[in-house]
Amino acid sequence: MLELADLDAFYGNSRTLQGINLTVASGEFLSVLGRNGVGKTTLMRSILGLMDRITGRLVLDGTDISALRTHQRAKAGIAYVPQGRGVLPRFTVRENLTLGTFAAKSPNGIEEWVIELFPMLRDFLNRHGGNLSGGQQQQLAIARALLAQPKVMLLDEPTEGIQPNIVEQIEDVITRLNRERGITVILVEQNVAFARRASHRFALLEKGRVVARGAIAELTDELVQRHMAV
Ligand SMILES: Nc1ncnc2c1ncn2[C@@H]1O[C@H](COP(=O)(O)OP(=O)(O)O)[C@@H](O)[C@H]1O
Ligand SMILES: [Mg+2]
Repeated sequence: MLELADLDAFYGNSRTLQGINLTVASGEFLSVLGRNGVGKTTLMRSILGLMDRITGRLVLDGTDISALRTHQRAKAGIAYVPQGRGVLPRFTVRENLTLGTFAAKSPNGIEEWVIELFPMLRDFLNRHGGNLSGGQQQQLAIARALLAQPKVMLLDEPTEGIQPNIVEQIEDVITRLNRERGITVILVEQNVAFARRASHRFALLEKGRVVARGAIAELTDELVQRHMAV
């Protein structure tokens, strides 16, 4: 279980997250929704330990991880697929994947089951990350995160700007990772249809606060209209 208690996050003096309280049970799939600029990415970065300053508490399976550095949080079982994917363009696919294994608690190389999720990776192992399409880079970023052997996976807009045929495949893999492998997922999405299909629960953000939350069936069109329409 991952618990965020009274979490504030700052960029300089500006308090971007304000009093976030969220609990994600093991094996649960939570979608974090909201318009651009409300703090979704900041929330992901806070969980990872990538912010200069946060206050409040972060507890993973009973252990307070607030004081841990990012690489220690990774070893504790939190993996991140950042918005924009974060693939290293001058590293090969194999090298990008190997970076993921470094974050694992008991590294096990480039595990076959991960490659099986995205078979195209096998053909491109020696290609530079920067030469893959956006959709392929997203698949690589997900595979790299999985090689860190996460209990909790954070995915920040994984379908953003990706060609439709690959979107479907990515959605399917993310859903299966949760359903079949029991990986806890925190997904940031603008794609409400995907969030509805895949999630157990949702949290809607406005200006750094959670303004609505609940079981995914309670995510009404009216809530979507009120908090997500541009
Ligand atoms: N590196 C930064 N420095 C200062 N302000 C930032 C930085 N990154 C984001 N912000 C601000 O924090 C707020 C939340 O941003 P972000 O978490 O990226 O929102 P979202 O992911 O929901 O679009 C925005 O007002 C944004 O301008
Ligand atoms: Mg964002």
